[in-house]
Amino acid sequence: MVNLTINGITVKVPAGTTILEAANSVGIEIPTLCHHPALSKFGACRMCVVEVQGARNLSASCTTPVSEGMVVETESERVVRARRVILDLLLANHPMDCLTCQKLGECKLSDYAYHYGVRQTSFKGEKHDYPLDDSNPYIVRDMNKCILCGQCVRACEEIKGQSAIGFAYRSFSTQVGPPLDEPLSYSECVYCNNCVIVCPVGALTDKQLLNKGRSYEVEKEPVICSFCEAGCEFEIIRRKNKVIGVEAKAAAPGRPLCLKGRLGLNFIYNPEATSPPLLKADDGSWQETSWETALGLEQIINKLKQLEGQKANPADNSKEA
Ligand code: FES
Repeated sequence: MVNLTINGITVKVPAGTTILEAANSVGIEIPTLCHHPALSKFGACRMCVVEVQGARNLSASCTTPVSEGMVVETESERVVRARRVILDLLLANHPMDCLTCQKLGECKLSDYAYHYGVRQTSFKGEKHDYPLDDSNPYIVRDMNKCILCGQCVRACEEIKGQSAIGFAYRSFSTQVGPPLDEPLSYSECVYCNNCVIVCPVGALTDKQLLNKGRSYEVEKEPVICSFCEAGCEFEIIRRKNKVIGVEAKAAAPGRPLCLKGRLGLNFIYNPEATSPPLLKADDGSWQETSWETALGLEQIINKLKQLEGQKANPADNSKEA
């Protein structure tokens, strides 16, 4: 175990823990843009820098392991100044169309700009003007909003094992995309949407959720997919009691939700879907009931048992079965 002090709090964590993990373990939040607990460490955005006593430079807390006796400050004046410059630089090449951005309310860039009081950039210069990649039915890619955190690239490779996208070009022209600048619809992408879930800004959005509601207007409810026996956990997204989308659980993207589960919500409002069972009341009228009630009825149970017996012994199969 290693003992250290973070913002004056004594922390004891196993050796190998990063400063970020140690801080989180005692409830201290450090802003991050390129870090995701389910992905490999990247250390690219520097948003998570902290001041370590005795160190010449600020340290990226997401990649720096703790050491015995370390003294860390996560919100010192120097740290805050550095984070403001990082945000200033990111906003220098950002479309700033937050009013119509689908991710407003869950965009880390806008949250941190608000928190650190960076209203606009002080660096004036060229901005990207990439065309929108709207080539497929599931994901909209707006590379003008991309902050090159690389989370989508790692999610594609490490969670899905697909590597459909990667970094291309250099310097100001660096961008993320499928090989040979092809649209996503021409790539190996299987639309698992894990890249969309980890994207901290509006560069990747779920097409089915576009203009259907802000993140703070919807409710998310964890459910288990019943399409196949894998039983993936995912979250169903509701707005005003209507299901508008579904996504793999952000906290556990190691279990990607497959296309069947993600797109199967169309069945909920399918007019041709199986209607609820009807039960004959004492007065002879038919009344709707739940499947649980209907399948619990003695006649149905006996019939199911009979069919099960016939399946186990095909020689007994009757014409009725
Ligand atoms: Fe640590 Fe990006 S979150 S460098």
